[in-house]
Amino acid sequence: MKTLKVLGIETSCDETAISLIEVDEATRTVKILGNTVHSQIDLHASYGGVFPTLAKREHQRNLVPVLEKTLAAANTLRKSAGGDASPASDISPAIESILAREPELLEAFKAALPTMARPDIDLIAVTVGPGLEPALWVGINFARALGALWNVPIVPCNHMEGHVLTALVDENFKLLDADIAYPALSLLISGGHTQIVLIGDGGTGIGTYKIVGETLDDAVGECFDKTARTLGLAYPGGPKISKLAAQARAEGITSPEPLPRPMIESHGLDFSFSGLKTAVLYLTKRLAEKGVPLDERTIKGICREIEDSITDVLIAKMRAAIEKYAVATLVIGGGVISNTHIREALAKLADDCSLRLLLPRTDHSTDNGFMIALAGYFNKDKAVDASTTLKADGTLAIGPRV
Ligand code: KG4
Ligand code: ZN
Repeated sequence: MKTLKVLGIETSCDETAISLIEVDEATRTVKILGNTVHSQIDLHASYGGVFPTLAKREHQRNLVPVLEKTLAAANTLRKSAGGDASPASDISPAIESILAREPELLEAFKAALPTMARPDIDLIAVTVGPGLEPALWVGINFARALGALWNVPIVPCNHMEGHVLTALVDENFKLLDADIAYPALSLLISGGHTQIVLIGDGGTGIGTYKIVGETLDDAVGECFDKTARTLGLAYPGGPKISKLAAQARAEGITSPEPLPRPMIESHGLDFSFSGLKTAVLYLTKRLAEKGVPLDERTIKGICREIEDSITDVLIAKMRAAIEKYAVATLVIGGGVISNTHIREALAKLADDCSLRLLLPRTDHSTDNGFMIALAGYFNKDKAVDASTTLKADGTLAIGPRV
């Protein structure tokens, strides 16, 4: 039993995020030593969504400063080498070749890394998928370059597993994976995914995942973002819809028309959100034809109805999944679980069904490096040498669809 320090690197979408954690294997508690998230949201907002080549360029610019900030906060230097800086000569041809496709990052790496003290870390975890491939590659190559420079192994990680694991840390940062009964049921709701996942079927545990339901078209976060755009709200729309919906409830405002609850009673545990997106578009067109202005009050009412529709569908599908699988615990993850209304609805569902509900802290719900550092810890047996070629996989699945 010892402590393990894991550096987690996340660049799958529009957050450049790095976290350094320390896991005490005896007490199974996690300490966050440093945690930096650099969001590119403002840059992508003008495109109404994430623009992959822009994300790639921004990750190249942000990774070194984000690393510097995280390590400065962690203040943890390698004892064996006296915390010495890596001499500039250590930027070997091997490292130059790892970063050959990221010239801007290579320049920043060469300028900064020789001036930085070597951190005391055991593993580097990096997201290899799912996500935007150009963005994933930057993080992977950066992780390999650091691994080569510091002689630290790399753990390739699945972004969605990272989201699962953020819910398995209690308020004292104790790991809960050994405290829950398996199988457990997970709902993963993000900008790219909407999945119901059975964890640890057959009595295994973390690491065994089966997708038992998923969206057939848009993800739930995507639906929030696209309907928000139709209403003239900036990217990312999820938090904005959520805020306006809460105001509508407080002020007793309702939507001028109801919206559908797509596939709420059909297609088993699968979801569809593109119909809701279209319904919002048609609703705004009908209102325009009738001369009804899309004013603040109307927008608030529609936001409330969008959030209610999404929540109703998520809860109905989770209720059906609970009936189908004998589980005692719900484990929720993904950026959309920052949503207060959905959190409350899941709490009520868990209460009704006498299940334990594990939610991530709201500040660990959207993408971050902590989730990837955790995934690195849980997958430490899969660590490879930095010289091993790793591939970005934009559609990497957390497990088989059953
Ligand atoms: O997990 P995440 O940070 O990135 C992906 O892996 O996709 O999720 C981002 C998504 C975005 O679609 C964003 O609009 C949504 O999470 N989101 C929310 C809220 N906060 C973030 N959706 C609804 N309500 C929120 N409060
Ligand atoms: Zn995510």
